[in-house]
Amino acid sequence: MSYYQIENLEEYFKHYKKSIREPKKFWGKIAEENFTWYQNWDKVLEGDLFQANVKWFSNAKLNIVKNCLDRHLSKRGNKNAIIFEPNNPDEPSQFITYNELYERVCKMANVLLEQGVKKGDRVCIYLPMIPELTISILACARIGAIHSVIFAGFSASALASRIEDCGAKLVITSDGAFRGNKVLDLKAIVDEALTQTPEVAKVLLVKRTNNKINIVPNRDLWVDDLLAAASSNSVAEVMDAEDPLFILYTSGSTGKPKGMLHTTAGYMVYVGYTFKNLFNYKEDDIFWCTADIGWITGHSYNLYGPLLNGATTVIFEGVPSYPDFGRFWQVIEKHKITQFYTAPTAIRALAKENLSFVDNHDLSSLRVLGSVGEPINEEAWHWYNNHVGQKKCPIIDTWWQTETGGVLISALPFITPTKPTYASLPLPGVLPVLMDDKRNEIDDNQVVGNLCIKQPWPGMARTIWGDHQRFIDTYFTAFPGKYFTGDGALRDEVGYYRITGRVDDVVIVSGHNLGTAPIEDAINEHPAVAESAIVGYPHDVKGNGLYGFVTLKEIGEYRDRNNLIKEINEQIATSIGPIAKLDKIQFVEGLPKTRSGKIMRRILRKIAEGDFSNFGDTSTLLDPEIVDKIKDGKI
Ligand code: WT7
Repeated sequence: MSYYQIENLEEYFKHYKKSIREPKKFWGKIAEENFTWYQNWDKVLEGDLFQANVKWFSNAKLNIVKNCLDRHLSKRGNKNAIIFEPNNPDEPSQFITYNELYERVCKMANVLLEQGVKKGDRVCIYLPMIPELTISILACARIGAIHSVIFAGFSASALASRIEDCGAKLVITSDGAFRGNKVLDLKAIVDEALTQTPEVAKVLLVKRTNNKINIVPNRDLWVDDLLAAASSNSVAEVMDAEDPLFILYTSGSTGKPKGMLHTTAGYMVYVGYTFKNLFNYKEDDIFWCTADIGWITGHSYNLYGPLLNGATTVIFEGVPSYPDFGRFWQVIEKHKITQFYTAPTAIRALAKENLSFVDNHDLSSLRVLGSVGEPINEEAWHWYNNHVGQKKCPIIDTWWQTETGGVLISALPFITPTKPTYASLPLPGVLPVLMDDKRNEIDDNQVVGNLCIKQPWPGMARTIWGDHQRFIDTYFTAFPGKYFTGDGALRDEVGYYRITGRVDDVVIVSGHNLGTAPIEDAINEHPAVAESAIVGYPHDVKGNGLYGFVTLKEIGEYRDRNNLIKEINEQIATSIGPIAKLDKIQFVEGLPKTRSGKIMRRILRKIAEGDFSNFGDTSTLLDPEIVDKIKDGKI
């Protein structure tokens, strides 16, 4: 029997048990039967979560791009691999077959080789959602270069710190990006970033917007010129199972972003397998994940997951609100999308608009709906179910993280009965456990605990680039022998999991994972600011909004508070990007600190929520009166 596809609930339980009791047999069989290898592995799994030294498919040799492209050519050469839907609905869609994608990736791989990129080198990619983004990623993977995609909404300084951290010598970007009715000057951002990163020797430029840009001689090269001269013969590099595939940055509880490192074989097997089952994927489906490829959702389920299964995936350049709030629904109708995967924040924003935007479109092609990035609240769930799925499409609420590589907890469509606000059951291979603060496993149901994972799974990140100790400290120390997710969760009487939110200093804003520490660092750079503390608070569209409590040095020339608020937000946009701007700023006389100097954030969270009822024990505060002052809005 094959384990690659789960057909019904009984089979899910059977596969699940097998995967937990005999993970090596389970994953070994999936890997062997559904992927191509230059050479098989010696051992399916080595290492453990105590030592954070997990390895999957040791000594196997493969290339993930061969699995995404080459092996499909004989059967699916003329099938669309990518449908590109441009920002402007009047610009024609592009249909890229597996044959064409293969050829373009091979040429791009040769361009990279000619520019001196070698196996193991890091390449930073800072591109909008256009086919060249996918092609650049696959070209890196084909030659064994490690890709690090930086979301094209990050600022120059955020880009520079990531380029520097991973030591990239080559950056791929474009002249600009179309976003709604705006043209963003990506090249200017790259130019500014590169003033801080002298090691970058080459910048490859994709032409997209045709706006005027600055060209640095000997450094900046138009990709089209290089592609025109490139051969399309390319032999995929032989990669070891544990060779790095990519680095993707995520925020943490200190200012420095964490470069999560994913390796080749385990990631491939996990993402291919989960894509197939999560989306009930069938050969003629047209799959659309709206996430930007600059995030893990885009890596795993826009790109690698679909291509590993020979699927057709839609790359959408635009935004849900342009030219109007019917854009998503129009794209679903136009391309007859069968699976639609998006974020609760988008659903909430679109649900606020007139129903005619969605009702005017024929959405009958849809079979499965997905949600990702943050908890989906009941109201948004029902709107999605009633108006988009027309009560015919199961909604999968998929819980996972940049670190996990692929989805860990989710219903399977047509198999697991869904329950709004519950991610539901773990996927095969995933053993979740709830831990109390004393490090004991919680056996009871209906209680909230710290969500940990007790067994290694193939898609897990292997380290933080350049800082393995931080990897151990962040994920494997609080609960020894277990991977700590940083999320809290509740388990119900039948074993369904409901994610209750972060238990650390990370806030999920519109599905983006934002550490409060880097934002505080940015604010504190403003000359008028002495100190700051950021907390999340419930926000009806974004899920969480950001609330900043700020103490000032001298007010002096900054008497105009509105101006100061503007400047603080500009400072954040410059250091991190506009996504991290604060929704509310309150200037305060002081922050509630304990005698040991730690800010008591739970009090600030309550104030931000407008809940002044019970602040709990404030006896350890250095100055308990400060709480009343903040509450009363006094400075
Ligand atoms: C954090 C990870 C991996 C997808 C994109 C985000 C939150 C993610 C859900 C969900 C409740 C969710 C968690 C997690 N999260 N999906 N279905 N229900 N919360 O990746 O940026 O690494 O953020 O997003 O808090 O820890 P990320």
